[in-house]
Amino acid sequence: MELIILKLGGSIITEKSGPPSFKDRLFDKIAKELSNLEVNLLLVHGAGSYGHPIAKEYSIRQGYSNTSQLKGVTETKRSMFSLTLKIVDSLIKHNVPVVPFLSSSCMVAKSGRLVDVDLAPFKILLDIGLVPLCSGDVIADQKTGFTIVSGDQIAIHLAKKLGAGRVIFGCDVNGIFDSDPKTNPAAKLIERLTLDDLRDMTFPGESLTTDVTGGMSGKLKESLDFVSSGGEVIIMNLSEPQNLAKLLNGDEVQCTRLIPK
Ligand code: IPE
Repeated sequence: MELIILKLGGSIITEKSGPPSFKDRLFDKIAKELSNLEVNLLLVHGAGSYGHPIAKEYSIRQGYSNTSQLKGVTETKRSMFSLTLKIVDSLIKHNVPVVPFLSSSCMVAKSGRLVDVDLAPFKILLDIGLVPLCSGDVIADQKTGFTIVSGDQIAIHLAKKLGAGRVIFGCDVNGIFDSDPKTNPAAKLIERLTLDDLRDMTFPGESLTTDVTGGMSGKLKESLDFVSSGGEVIIMNLSEPQNLAKLLNGDEVQCTRLIPK
């Protein structure tokens, strides 16, 4: 069976602004859809309001500089842990055989990039039909002590190492638009984006958010070499979770596909 890596973006599982809040009703529908998919599935979830604000407050991504950050590491991890638990509870309710992984226990970075990931537990458990779930996280960093690694980076890294054919980024918009669809109703969806288009793109609005891992542009940059080596990357809206099954069936779904040329 084909291995698919699905990134559950922070924007789809949490209310991104304000205090941490899980979109439980929507996630319940997503979990139900996931239970019906006939693929080998590996899930990676983002942080949204459970991670970015605390990580920013304590400058976690920048690495260790003073002892006052240690409380921030602990608090970020505790908050992410509570989000993972909500996801796990919903998946179990729908009989998805999920196995939560702590990214910080099996991954090491160097200057913010993953360099050492223990793949064995993923491989063994995937092989018997379990569904590993990990998240963007605070992890150890050989250069800076600790860092934040995004779920996007993890999803693409695991896809390359585990030989997944497709990575799907589930978010709260239909894909990449020619301008911001949240502020411009005339924004047009870009259905196919080549690597050359991608290299030229800018995302001016994103520096205004609390997203410490780069938002949409981060997703795209992560995807470059996976796509150039033949992998497929799809950015789609999970607000209508039934689109996932449609997409996997080969039906027409509004989304952005990254293609080599
Ligand atoms: C960020 O993960 C992890 C933390 C801030 C702890 P992501 O970068 O994957 O999260 P989202 O999807 O943007 O919210």
